[in-house]
Amino acid sequence: MLRNHEAEAIRDRIRDATDIVDLVSEHVQLARRGRNFLGLCPFHEEKTPSFNVNPDRQFYHCFGCGVGGDVFKFIQEIDRVTFVEAVKFLAERAGIALPERSGPSREETEAADELYRANDLAQKYFHHLLLKDDVGTSARTYLQTRRLTDETIAHFGLGYAPPEWDALLKVGGRRGLSPQILERAGLALPRSKGSGHYDRFRDRIAFPIANLSNRTIAFGARTLQADQQPKYLNSPETPIYHKGRVLYGLADTRDAIRRRDAALVVEGYMDLISLAQAGIRHVVATSGTALTEDHGRLLARYARQVVLLFDGDAAGSTAAMRACEALLGTGLDARVVSLPAEHDPDSFVQEHGPDALLKRAENAQSVLDFYLKQLAQQHDLSSIEGKARAAEKLKPLLAKPRDAVRRDLLLREVAERLSVDEQSLRHDLQTALRRPQQSRKAVAEPSPIAAPDPPRHELEFIGLLLNFPQLIPQTTREFAHDSLSDARTQALCRALFNRHAHGKAINLGTIISELQNDELARLVAQCAAQGFDEEQVERQWRDYLLYFQKNALQRRIANARQALAGASDESEIAHISAELVALNQERQAVVAQQSP
Ligand code: UTP
Ligand code: MN
Repeated sequence: MLRNHEAEAIRDRIRDATDIVDLVSEHVQLARRGRNFLGLCPFHEEKTPSFNVNPDRQFYHCFGCGVGGDVFKFIQEIDRVTFVEAVKFLAERAGIALPERSGPSREETEAADELYRANDLAQKYFHHLLLKDDVGTSARTYLQTRRLTDETIAHFGLGYAPPEWDALLKVGGRRGLSPQILERAGLALPRSKGSGHYDRFRDRIAFPIANLSNRTIAFGARTLQADQQPKYLNSPETPIYHKGRVLYGLADTRDAIRRRDAALVVEGYMDLISLAQAGIRHVVATSGTALTEDHGRLLARYARQVVLLFDGDAAGSTAAMRACEALLGTGLDARVVSLPAEHDPDSFVQEHGPDALLKRAENAQSVLDFYLKQLAQQHDLSSIEGKARAAEKLKPLLAKPRDAVRRDLLLREVAERLSVDEQSLRHDLQTALRRPQQSRKAVAEPSPIAAPDPPRHELEFIGLLLNFPQLIPQTTREFAHDSLSDARTQALCRALFNRHAHGKAINLGTIISELQNDELARLVAQCAAQGFDEEQVERQWRDYLLYFQKNALQRRIANARQALAGASDESEIAHISAELVALNQERQAVVAQQSP
């Protein structure tokens, strides 16, 4: 159970992160009236607007029917959901992670608290030195040569770690943070000879790294000297910092990422900051590590597309290839931009401007195109030998997609692009997948996990149609198969519709043999095995239809929202807003038909 005060704190965060005018505007067309907004009440029929939204107090009230409340109440009422569901919905919308039910122990929480305090202190101290202290002069000058504005420096909380061996240790000591705590926080190191500690970061620009609650958990620290190695020193892994799971900038940029439904991934702190300063905000950076599947899954919470923006050199290409493999396993639409060899994203925007970069991002290559282009530089893809080698190198990529359908599509495309035989490629791949890849073990790839099954309701629905095929004619009239969210259940639904259209009987055995896809065959058998209450069939069927229609509308609403966020032209904004309101009304009509 969540402790009470924690639950309250989270609710406050969600409330703070949600703009009530934005939220209500998705359902009601609002017009500004002084400090407030006014529209037609969605909760009762009316001709003159009496539904009032107060952005200062984050509150709505209808003078006509008397309803009123905050963002949670609004969602509860308009979507007819429980409070808990409204909290979940708004948390997701705001990108706030709800804590797991079984939280850390008290001791762990307290230990973590000290680490947060230490990092927070370091950030404030370094930031102060950079902005206000004589010792920060050279760092200030350096950042000016990098063309960072004061605003940018303040926004990213950049700082300067002074040259002394114990500056931070002393400041920590005065605040009750022992050298041991600073050591655990990754900010100090024990001396190798004798006793005592010394500061990890000295005479460097400090880039604070934040978690999704916007608390500093680590630093990357850049030298000011042109030839000093290493160029960057980074915090080590600590109980609150796991490189493979943290993306630099995400707390700050996730709203933009969500709005765009896309994230640009860069390698460097400076790249991200420079892009942000140029107005490109939907960016994250890895911090001195390769992109992991965990990173991918994190990004998948906010966007469907990820565009890798790596340096134009060979190291950049290799990093991009590894990153592609990590991303394919997450179901994200991964794309790659190759910058000119002499550029990194920072220098590219500084030289060519943000629009040129965005344009490249829009025209980014698919992972497969990118791979094939890389491979074409190493092999002669017109020769049989070259093709065989390229196909060999593509195998790790082909094995990545978690669900069988995607894997299959990728395989077909590779076969087609290399013009090699699909069946033999498939055969090769299966053998490769079955044999543990001993030679590659050192790379410590995450083990392939079976694809999660499609949503339970969708499987049940297919099962219902299989068991009661008399429902199919009516279903084809009222329902589009792409209202289902999963490619596999869509494929099954389409197969059933097709059989019906061709006047063929719905027979499980024939369906399975015609599918010619192991995964789909397994699923269809699983669907068929479901039991149903004969008397409830009609009602269930109707409920499923409404449920899928609602979800499909929800996806369209999400798309419209995103289009709205990206729209700049007044008439376009008006057009999308109207569409959004209409979609929400359609959705409410569906909700109203759902049985309680
Ligand atoms: P870059 O060398 O491309 O640095 O390394 P950068 O961010 O563009 O910085 P500037 O423009 O030279 O100031 C990219 C990223 O790789 C990690 C850092 O996270 C860096 O931002 N890195 C690089 C290290 O961790 N250690 C290093 O020694 C170098
Ligand atoms: Mn750079």
